[in-house]
Amino acid sequence: MTHAQVFTQELLPTPSQLAISDEATVTLHQYFAALVRERRRSPGDDPVSQWLRTWDELEPDRDRADEAVYYLALLVVLAALETTSNLLSTMAWLIAEHPRQMGWLRAHPQDIPGAVEEVLRYDPPIHVVTRVAGDDMTLAGIDVPKDETVHLMLAAANHDPAQYADPHIFDIRRKVGHLSFGGGIHYCVGAPLARMEATALLTALLRKLPGLSVHRDPQWAPRVAFRRMTTLTVSDSASARVPEQAGPRDL
Ligand code: HEM
Repeated sequence: MTHAQVFTQELLPTPSQLAISDEATVTLHQYFAALVRERRRSPGDDPVSQWLRTWDELEPDRDRADEAVYYLALLVVLAALETTSNLLSTMAWLIAEHPRQMGWLRAHPQDIPGAVEEVLRYDPPIHVVTRVAGDDMTLAGIDVPKDETVHLMLAAANHDPAQYADPHIFDIRRKVGHLSFGGGIHYCVGAPLARMEATALLTALLRKLPGLSVHRDPQWAPRVAFRRMTTLTVSDSASARVPEQAGPRDL
């Protein structure tokens, strides 16, 4: 459902994509509005109940508070699921495609967080964020009139040759920043969680799948705002060989 909803944030969504997104929004609205009502009836110590308590202190109108919490819950779920899932798939793909770097990481697990940063730089889950200019301004030498829509290409910035040597080379030992979590006041609130999940997954992949390799090229949904890998076929050749080697002993 979240995959369908985020078409609205695409760069140039088609009418049929917008229709799919509208349909998903209706279903998600039903789900999250019911969740907010349920937490009103029986609050706990979950995030939605905590947000209701916070909003009740700020907003005397209950309906408005409920609506604010509904939008917050929807935003967090979309922002978390549609990004982190893609980071995890892209990471598995890039690491498997670079066996020497995978070997380095096995021997140097302290470099795993750096590898996660390089995956984020190389192919970020969000390629573009959009803003509407609040005033006339000049941005990097380009005049932007008030109310103009501006698409900021985060992924292109991450490959800026003025900032990165050989930007199109995937290199886990770079020690550089990136813009994949945005910047300023809207900087991603979930960045530490996403980094933690990716570090945990990569640590487990290196341990559990010693022969990880890409079996077939991945496929992506035709999207740039929220990237989405739809298929990644991998094999674990080393562990696949284990039963063959163990076979004679087992007989
Ligand atoms: C790899 C994973 C993630 C990436 C690449 C990512 C990327 C981003 C980016 C680029 C923005 C800024 C959007 C803008 O400026 O318009 C953002 C904002 C946000 N992210 Fe993430 N995100 C990730 C994971 C998460 C997770 C796990 C959560 C929640 C648990 C989350 C919640 C949010 C929220 C609520 C905002 C809006 C913040 C605001 O507007 O003040 N994100 N994220």
